[in-house]
Amino acid sequence: MANIVITGANRGIGLELARSYLREDNRVFAACRQPEKAGDLAKLAESSDGQLSIHPLDVTSSEQREAMTAMLGDTAVDILVNNAGVYPHKGLGFGELDEDDWLRGLHVNTVAPMMMTQALLDNILAGDRRLVASVTSKMGSIADNTSGGSYAYRASKSALNSAMRSLAIDLEKRGVTVILLHPGWVRTDMGGEGGLISTEESVSCLRGVLDRAGPGETGSFFDRDGSIIPW
Ligand SMILES: NC(=O)c1ccc[n+]([C@@H]2O[C@H](COP(=O)([O-])OP(=O)(O)OC[C@H]3O[C@@H](n4cnc5c(N)ncnc54)[C@H](OP(=O)(O)O)[C@@H]3O)[C@@H](O)[C@H]2O)c1
Repeated sequence: MANIVITGANRGIGLELARSYLREDNRVFAACRQPEKAGDLAKLAESSDGQLSIHPLDVTSSEQREAMTAMLGDTAVDILVNNAGVYPHKGLGFGELDEDDWLRGLHVNTVAPMMMTQALLDNILAGDRRLVASVTSKMGSIADNTSGGSYAYRASKSALNSAMRSLAIDLEKRGVTVILLHPGWVRTDMGGEGGLISTEESVSCLRGVLDRAGPGETGSFFDRDGSIIPW
């Protein structure tokens, strides 16, 4: 049994990750912005026999991150999944870019996963797996960018990749594995109905990568099938 913290666990990929870890009798700390509106997660908690708890967490709020750390106390965290994310000014092209929306995207997608990891580091160091997995996107790959657009989203995920790569190097000596995961193009609110795969298909693949990840994989940017995506 492992202790797992998942951000943005109320819908989409985060909710499915929570469901997947719960099936194997893990202890899931499911964080979301508005627990009172997280109906699907509440149902999961009800059927979990106390194995899943729901915690209020806007990942951009330092107070709520601190509250999460305080709630965990000295509980070991085996796996932190930084999943919460936004797609700033979707559909808007150059000439329509919105500064505030871009900065909000950077806050959620880039800064918050680092701050979350910093906030939970002692708990992670106390865990057996010592695994930090951040859900990024292939759209953050500069090498793979042949179609342009999506400035704010792409930049936020490229910056996340860069920061997590540094973190992987810095925490290697302390036995922490830091990986980046591309979930595929998934049918969620963010991915839209045109997505190529369901949340179940995505998470089933991601679990394969998560289950195998160890020190030898730290600093890697994985596609859901475990192949490496170029930076
Ligand atoms: N779907 C895809 O095709 C795809 C592809 C590549 C990467 N990704 C990445 O996968 C991750 C999950 O995306 P998804 O497809 O499951 O999207 P989604 O269904 O839109 O879910 C996004 C989740 O992030 C949460 N969130 C947003 N801002 C937050 C904040 N400030 N604090 C806490 N939670 C916040 C949302 O909570 P609320 O309900 O409170 O808004 C929701 O739980 C994201 O990092 C995304 O960039 C998705």
